[in-house]
Amino acid sequence: MKLADNKATLSFSNGSPSVEMPVYQGNIGPDVIDIRKLYAQTGMFTYDPGFLSTASCQSGITYIDGDKGELLYRGYPIEQLATNVDYLDTCHLLLKGELPNKTEQVAFHKLVTNHTMVNEQMQFFLRGFRRDAHPMAVLTGLVGALSAFYHDSTDINNPEHREIAAIRLIAKMPTLVAMAYKYGVGQPFMYPQNDLSYSGNFLRMMFGTPCEEYKVNPVIERAMDRIFILHADHEQNASTSTVRLCGSSGTNPFAAIAAGVACLWGPAHGGANEACLNMLEDIQRQGGVSKVGQFMEQVKDKNSGVKLMGFGHRVYKNYDPRAKLMQETCNEVLEALGLENDPLFKLAKQLEKIALEDDYFVQRKLYPNVDFYSGIVQRAIGIPVNLFTGIFALARTVGWIAQLNEMIGDPEYKIGRPRQLFTGSVKRDVKPLDQR
Ligand code: CMC
Repeated sequence: MKLADNKATLSFSNGSPSVEMPVYQGNIGPDVIDIRKLYAQTGMFTYDPGFLSTASCQSGITYIDGDKGELLYRGYPIEQLATNVDYLDTCHLLLKGELPNKTEQVAFHKLVTNHTMVNEQMQFFLRGFRRDAHPMAVLTGLVGALSAFYHDSTDINNPEHREIAAIRLIAKMPTLVAMAYKYGVGQPFMYPQNDLSYSGNFLRMMFGTPCEEYKVNPVIERAMDRIFILHADHEQNASTSTVRLCGSSGTNPFAAIAAGVACLWGPAHGGANEACLNMLEDIQRQGGVSKVGQFMEQVKDKNSGVKLMGFGHRVYKNYDPRAKLMQETCNEVLEALGLENDPLFKLAKQLEKIALEDDYFVQRKLYPNVDFYSGIVQRAIGIPVNLFTGIFALARTVGWIAQLNEMIGDPEYKIGRPRQLFTGSVKRDVKPLDQR
């Protein structure tokens, strides 16, 4: 870490001596004040629920400038990656720090492809779930269970174990997500077909059946690949921080990634695309475009508890650059599938238009986020709404692993252990039952 020229001084109004703290500079982005010695020097903690002003680690993987609406993976703008490389190249970049050259590309694609099958026993484990279980419940279980099937890659402190666990997770996630889907609809599981692309193989495992040959539609294949690229990493978001915190105890990589899957499920995070589609379907049931005005009034009423799902972001306060790219893909897919006039898509367009013009949204800098459009694209492709977050988890797995590996390799890494401001009962005595 690079020390800045200046230092921070914290002074107190009660006459306690002030303390000086070092300031570090990143390569870009805000400087950070190093408060690690604060408790030892003052007996005080800092208070920052939701980590609004706290950097929990140093990282060289992903950079977001929320005001500019900029997202960089290892320095490369998301727009360039989404248009010039594929998802597996993006995985190589995130994991190893560089885009692959031709030889590395062939070797990496082959390595991932060699690991796409899952242990045959896993399908019996899957069969223990109810058929109507939510795919995220199934996936949390399946990913966690990988550590029961691949004992030779569970030592988080062994670089070889981490390497092979990373490849296994990236390769097997599409297989697991497709299995969770097929189980729910009662169709036979499809084994991976390794001469297809990563996205093409996923589409075939999802929508192919053993009865006939599945032909991959190149527009949908590209759209799927773009969804994967746009969701591959996003700095220290809730699920990534969960993976880091979980991994900081030394648990195995599969267990840490399963924790990330569980965190991603929430509607304020990865579950937003599912929540967004459910919202659109609700409005559609209540009368569609004619009810948009009434719905927007509810969204703006603080007491209603209704939010416009797929809008707003903790970090992007200008626009979400992923949303622009996803909007492009959305138009391409709707056109290719002849769905431009679908009532739900018209409704989404109407909501987007009103929100972009309405003062409530403009003043609060609330723009559509990636999930607004990715939900629409996935629905058009035929992916059921309750599988959207599973697809997000598939794509984000590489980011989680890259971040986990970075943490383990960081000499400053420690087990994560936040502090608290205690507001409960002070010490008291247990009273006998008849006096309580
Ligand atoms: N609809 C209506 N009002 C909103 C919305 C929304 N979607 N999002 C924020 N606001 C209002 C909020 O009520 C607050 O108003 P006020 O200042 O009057 O109290 C103001 O905007 C600031 O919001 P905030 O809750 O302080 O913002 P945050 O940074 O804590 O929350 C968020 C970010 C993403 C959780 C939130 O915008 C939200 O719940 N959005 C809907 C869910 C969603 O689409 N999530 C996906 C995020 S993108 C995928 C990912 O990266 O995980």
